[in-house]
Amino acid sequence: MNVLAIETSCDETACAVVSIKHPGEGRAVVLADVIHSQTLHARYGGVVPEIASRAHIEQVVPTARAALATAGIDRPDAVAATAGPGLIGAVLVGLSFAKAAALGWGVPFVAVNHLEGHLLSALLDDPAPAFPFLSLVISGGHTTLYEARGVGDYRVLCETTDDAVGEAFDKVARMLGLGYPGGPRVEQSARTGNPRAINFPMPRPAASPMDLSFSGLKTAVRTRLERHPDSRTEDVAASFQDTVARYLVDRVLQGVALTGIRRVALGGGAAANGHIRDAMVATGLHVFLPPKARCTDNAAMIANVAALHLAAGRVASPLGTSARARWEVSA
Ligand code: KG4
Ligand code: ZN
Repeated sequence: MNVLAIETSCDETACAVVSIKHPGEGRAVVLADVIHSQTLHARYGGVVPEIASRAHIEQVVPTARAALATAGIDRPDAVAATAGPGLIGAVLVGLSFAKAAALGWGVPFVAVNHLEGHLLSALLDDPAPAFPFLSLVISGGHTTLYEARGVGDYRVLCETTDDAVGEAFDKVARMLGLGYPGGPRVEQSARTGNPRAINFPMPRPAASPMDLSFSGLKTAVRTRLERHPDSRTEDVAASFQDTVARYLVDRVLQGVALTGIRRVALGGGAAANGHIRDAMVATGLHVFLPPKARCTDNAAMIANVAALHLAAGRVASPLGTSARARWEVSA
């Protein structure tokens, strides 16, 4: 069974085709994974939703054609799309296109939660984690540690109460004048910085020891820059990044202690960060890291979720499924 998926939740128009043996819950194999990244937003210092929606409208058909051509198929057996969470106008473009394409081809349509895409993205590569495993999703809008017990069966172990990891990187990049996109630029700057130069406090939200919080760390960076305007940008970037990495490792270790599960997958844009990846590997846990291009937004992870659900016997989604700006993966 070949599944075409469309992902347009933010500023990437992405289309992919995966293949999975049906029935039976085997692994999905990526046949095509095409991404058109919008560069129009750079001069605004962040993603402009209306510009993103319009660019998706222009790009979705050529990107889908390119994915089908690369996969060498004319007609998939199912069409999937991200139905949320994300920028609502942007999500609508891919969702509407996917529904129309499924209807035209007379094949099932599957609505996919973008976060579930990140959560299971490690399953696309070798070696893939066996269930149950822990999955840390660190993206631009979400930061959650899940216990993945099976396809569609997830428990939230801890979650940020304010900013997401990627968002914190983006905000710190702006404070340091590094521009957009923030995450990769902070990482680049940190390469020549000293991670021990500044001792930023590890955030500890009062409500629950398992919660995550990044707004305090962001404020600590701002205060540092106000009090010491001569601080080396590279040192601030490296110290901030190292604090985030140690903090995430701490929460993962708590998750391991709570569940006894030692397989840990990473997903989401900030999982492309080399320092965070290295810190996870250094724990000695069995860590599963998707390739960097599959940490940031892509459609292969969306096709993967749809394929796994269909192979596990889930029925297709109604064509009336609407786009959702917010959508928890376990709901
Ligand atoms: O998963 P993603 O591509 O989109 C969302 O679902 O949000 O994640 C984007 C986020 C951005 O905030 C970006 O700054 C961050 O991931 N990011 C990084 C790196 N690459 C992307 N953060 C830290 N280091 C990176 N190398
Ligand atoms: Zn994402």
